[in-house]
Amino acid sequence: MTILVTGGAGFIGSNFVLDWLADAAAEPVVNLDALTYAGNRRNLAALEGDARHVFVHGDIGDRALLDRLLAEHRPRALVHFAAESHVDRSIHGPGAFIKTNIEGTFTLLEAARAHWNGLAGDAKAAFRFLHVSTDEVYGSLGPGEPAFTEANPCQPNSPYAASKAASDHLVRAWHHTYGLPVLTTNCSNNYGPFQFPEKLIPLVIVNALAGKPLPIYGDGMQVRDWLYVGDHCSAIRAVLARGRCGEVYNIGGWNEKPNRDIVHAICALLDELRPDAAGPRARLITHVKDRPGHDRRYAIDARKIERELGWRPRQTFETGIRRTVQWYLENAAWVAAVQSGSYRDWVATHYAARG
Ligand code: NAD
Ligand code: TYD
Repeated sequence: MTILVTGGAGFIGSNFVLDWLADAAAEPVVNLDALTYAGNRRNLAALEGDARHVFVHGDIGDRALLDRLLAEHRPRALVHFAAESHVDRSIHGPGAFIKTNIEGTFTLLEAARAHWNGLAGDAKAAFRFLHVSTDEVYGSLGPGEPAFTEANPCQPNSPYAASKAASDHLVRAWHHTYGLPVLTTNCSNNYGPFQFPEKLIPLVIVNALAGKPLPIYGDGMQVRDWLYVGDHCSAIRAVLARGRCGEVYNIGGWNEKPNRDIVHAICALLDELRPDAAGPRARLITHVKDRPGHDRRYAIDARKIERELGWRPRQTFETGIRRTVQWYLENAAWVAAVQSGSYRDWVATHYAARG
């Protein structure tokens, strides 16, 4: 038995594959990834020479490739991470988000449906398509509003969130119309090892270490619910193993924090772990122009997954952020390698416009 993972060279996907294969008894993984700017084979370096990991460089929009992989490996499950994932990039150029997140998910669903239709008996009953999605599909909350439950309507506000919401709808429809055994997870903001330094937490860590400005959009009082990536991976494993087909599971860390607090927490940890002779890192904080349409608050009500599947996060924000900062301190070579020409171009054009 094998599982097929898409996007397994990205941040969460690579953490998932590494965690999965850390279990000596785990099923092998076929890892399909297009290696966009966000995909990085270095994330999987620990699996070099491990026959249980088969890496395939390819696009989820390539139906012929999908058919070949499904026929060859006959996976018992498909775990779908592959996506364009950065809100700011979706504002600069939404086309890639429509292509991968919507059309790519459609192609994957169709290939999975054909594969599943060809199965029989126990293999057909056991097959699962797990779609990894985000809390951003639910839109933005006011300060006193209750956290998102699975019953909240989809009210996406950014091109990224809209493309993920569209993919969630496709997944739902393939279950209701064709009976495909799907599971959908909507998770809050992740952080941890291997996160590309375009996202807030790794960007602040690498800029602070380099003595560069730490850009906070607007007033910095936007609230996100932060979850350590290892906890997201354990939640996905729980949903895959025990989730009910056709159901949606919200995943969150019960860790609502405004961006300003996140940035200050990272500064304080770096000052402790790697003091800077020039003074406290918080001196580098700069408020820059806000993101257009910036969602004010996300919060996840994760009681359903706790009640039905017994899952709870193991890391608090304090333990998770300390591990994360330590990982970036210990992996300077990884950081240097991802700061390629295209990364520098993104940072230069995006932040130049924010002033
Ligand atoms: P990421 O951008 O770090 O990685 C995405 C991966 O997908 C990359 O390896 C990339 O090469 C690959 N990819 C992109 N387009 C592809 C295509 N057409 N075919 C095959 N591979 C392709 O993203 P991430 O942060 O790891 O997020 C993974 C998933 O989790 C996404 O679906 C995202 O929407 C979801 N999610 C992310 C967060 C978060 O905080 N990062 C939170 C909730 C949900
Ligand atoms: P991000 O990591 O891009 O995740 P998302 O937009 O999916 O929540 O951003 C997290 C929060 O941090 C979001 O409110 C935007 C804010 N942010 C900044 O203030 N400065 C930055 O340089 C970045 C990248 C994000």
